[in-house]
Amino acid sequence: MISAADPIPFENRTIALVGLMGVGKSTVGRRLAARLGLPFADGDDEIEQAAGMSVSEIFATMGEGAFRDGEARVMRRLLEGPPMVLATGGGAVLNAETRWLLGTRSIMIWLRADLKVIAARVQRRDTRPLLRGKDAYQTLSAMAEVRYPLYGEAHLTVDVGGGGHTDSVEAIVAALDTLRPSPGIEASQRRAP
Ligand code: S3P
Repeated sequence: MISAADPIPFENRTIALVGLMGVGKSTVGRRLAARLGLPFADGDDEIEQAAGMSVSEIFATMGEGAFRDGEARVMRRLLEGPPMVLATGGGAVLNAETRWLLGTRSIMIWLRADLKVIAARVQRRDTRPLLRGKDAYQTLSAMAEVRYPLYGEAHLTVDVGGGGHTDSVEAIVAALDTLRPSPGIEASQRRAP
């Protein structure tokens, strides 16, 4: 059951990173959590713990549908819990309820990078069942077509990939700062008659 709670204030929200696989959500998320002094959770790791098997094994033995159901359950549990930095799996946004929870209970941040950069990165590892035996660039391009409008529902979009992970963390921190009420505006409001 989804809790019927009103959208929670931004300062109490989980910071949820969304975006295509290989964009660096887990590594950047872990560092961001350390930088902000928040706990960190990785959606895929949580699914693996709950299922007692790897993402690849879940896809192979139960199929993508079962994986997506498990993913939605894990997202609900984490997004209804205390604030944290959360790295979501690239396909978590395909679920409408997860998107609603991300929109109302998290600060949803789309980490966006050039598809060629991501394709080169994901080819170094063979842990992603949706890429196995396929051309990474073509597969990611097809995913982008479906998912970019969904990632586009994020509160913030941060372009990453040009520099290192430290640059990405700083870019996210700067983007989060834009959500704070401007002290300048507050001061001028205080002076208003
Ligand atoms: C997937 C992304 C993966 C993992 C699964 C499916 C996707 O997570 O959840 O292989 O559909 O994009 P990462 O984005 O962390 O690689």
